[in-house]
Amino acid sequence: MKSLSVNNLLGIKHLNQDDLSLIFETADHFKEIINRPIKKVPSLRDITIANLFFENSTRTKLSFELAEKRLSADIINFSAAQSSVKKGETLIDTVNNILSMKVDIVVMRHPNVGAAVFLSKHVNAKIINAGDGTHEHPTQALLDSYSIREKLGDVGGKKVVIIGDILHSRVALSNIFALKTQGAEVKVCGPTTLIPKHIESLGVTVETDLRKALEWCDVANVLRVQHERMDIKYFPSTREYTQLFGINKEILNSLNKEIIVMHPGPINRGVEITSDVADSDQSIILNQVENGVAVRMACIYLLAQQIKR
Ligand code: NCD
Repeated sequence: MKSLSVNNLLGIKHLNQDDLSLIFETADHFKEIINRPIKKVPSLRDITIANLFFENSTRTKLSFELAEKRLSADIINFSAAQSSVKKGETLIDTVNNILSMKVDIVVMRHPNVGAAVFLSKHVNAKIINAGDGTHEHPTQALLDSYSIREKLGDVGGKKVVIIGDILHSRVALSNIFALKTQGAEVKVCGPTTLIPKHIESLGVTVETDLRKALEWCDVANVLRVQHERMDIKYFPSTREYTQLFGINKEILNSLNKEIIVMHPGPINRGVEITSDVADSDQSIILNQVENGVAVRMACIYLLAQQIKR
């Protein structure tokens, strides 16, 4: 049986093309299962998973939980807001206490860059990074590529533009790694203040003119402005941001082709994307959410295969 080249899912940076193909083929299988009347398989009946969320989440948390339940794993959930972290407990102490309850896999979202890597070096469980600060969000990039592959047949050779707050977005970085590994062409587009210096070294090009970027691409992945990560002003006003970088029906209709529009959520309607675009036929936003469950089932299943039982 084929297996992943990594022992933990910490970032797309550590995955190769074979890993991505294996995850997508496994997800195809699970997507078929979760569309059956009986959506559950017994594959992970002897596995216990802890979902540790030190930062807010709706989609990712629910999607992981559902994926784990569909695989018949036992799960425990932890949210920092209601925990002893507030009483001064360290990350390692919190996690070690949870692991002493015999947990096999930890899914963790944390506000600090590198938190998942740190954990993987100190605890004896499989770690899945569900987002570490502004760094990586591997399962989001996997479900994004899976959704492009489903819609366009292949990711290789496609032109993808990532629009918005590239500087603070873990979705952007993980997507860049995933798309480049699969041979897509990648552009980033946004205000220059929100584009990291030297981003070209990752093999992407920069375009600050939204119209030019949209005319070039097959797929536009639109990101939310991460206000919660900003301690200074990066652009004059939300209104100006929307005027220059917001995706609306007029601009899409004025292109000489029909592009695909994606968004990882949560959407700020009327800021980076208008409702008529988010809810249009060109948008695959809800397909992304549906695919998230199958892709996360695949990641958990493949990592669980490595656990000696
Ligand atoms: C993203 C995240 O948390 O990084 N959302 C998600 O996981 N679906 C993007 C965001 O918060 O804007």
